[in-house]
Amino acid sequence: MTIMQATELTHAAMLGLGVYRPERVVTNEEICETLDSTDEWIQSRSGIRTRRFAGAEESLIGMATAAAERALAVSGVSADQLGCVIVATSTHPEHTPASAPQVATALGSTAAAFDVSAGCAGFCHALNPASAMVRSGAESHVPVIGVEQLSRFMDPTDRGTAFIFADGAGAVVVGPSGATGIGPTAWGSDGSQSGVITQTPSCLGAHTETPVVQMEGTAVFRWAPFAMAEVAHSALRAAGVAVDDLDAFIPHQANLRITQTLSRNIKLPESVAVATDIVDSGNTSAASVPLAMEAMLRKGEARVGDVALLIAFGAGLSYAGRVVALPPIE
Ligand code: UT7
Repeated sequence: MTIMQATELTHAAMLGLGVYRPERVVTNEEICETLDSTDEWIQSRSGIRTRRFAGAEESLIGMATAAAERALAVSGVSADQLGCVIVATSTHPEHTPASAPQVATALGSTAAAFDVSAGCAGFCHALNPASAMVRSGAESHVPVIGVEQLSRFMDPTDRGTAFIFADGAGAVVVGPSGATGIGPTAWGSDGSQSGVITQTPSCLGAHTETPVVQMEGTAVFRWAPFAMAEVAHSALRAAGVAVDDLDAFIPHQANLRITQTLSRNIKLPESVAVATDIVDSGNTSAASVPLAMEAMLRKGEARVGDVALLIAFGAGLSYAGRVVALPPIE
């Protein structure tokens, strides 16, 4: 007996990008009504001016679905073409069931669906299996959605997190293409630093309180700009792309100062446009890279087809980077 398998590899690319930004814009002044901080400190230490928090009518599933519907519309792909739906999130309220089957159903699909938990690096992780499925011919179209509702899991009085984290969703449809649009992944993890970004108290055992995210921000700050420069060079080498060939650099929007230091450490030329969506959107964890991609394309800082380096890092610690061709937006 012979087991059938697809043998010819195709190219995979992001065919379209859609986002959902919650209605409510929250200023630093509003954050400082509860947090012992100032607008000046927040802007100078993180770059953040505003962020968005989901309202009562804006659920995690709803935001993910809205972003994916827009990505499908831009891609010209219908729900019945989907082979798999992947959602990257750390703020789906339940461990089980995962959020992705509910998102797939809301999209009108019965495709396989699962969540990826890799903190702020979740979207960049999920692009890897999606691209591999499409390249192998196992599935033709796979939406990858990064979504977070961090405002539900924050202590508004915690000086280390309350001004940073925010809500939103971004989605791409990965599908077959005439040319490579998603380069090889440079990724890894460091579980010895698992205590740096945590959720506590545990939602297991006797705890009944809502868990909140806690972070040793300075430890991340010392690690990311240097470790991620190595990852950037690995991703560029694997894709056969020189740093001078890049049009855009779209790192996880953790902190504007991390982005600036990382850009210097990678030795990015001035010609490369750098994503700064953190200023308007805060740190939306797994949603930050697709949201930042959309902001650059919408503002004309980057164009469809541009060659961009994506890098994301966060809880785990987990990290992933790759070179991509930027997808179209609405
Ligand atoms: O997305 C997942 C990955 N996460 C990240 O990448 C986050 C990375 N880390 C960061 O973004 C930064 O570490 C923070 C923005 C969170 C903090 O900035 P920092 O420069 O590392 O501040 P710090 O904790 O070293 O504190 C510096 C000073 C201290 O005062 P003294 O001791 O110098 O007098 C703190 O008490 O700032 C004080 N401080 C604050 N002041 C006003 C700490 N937090 C606050 C605050 N408002 N929220």
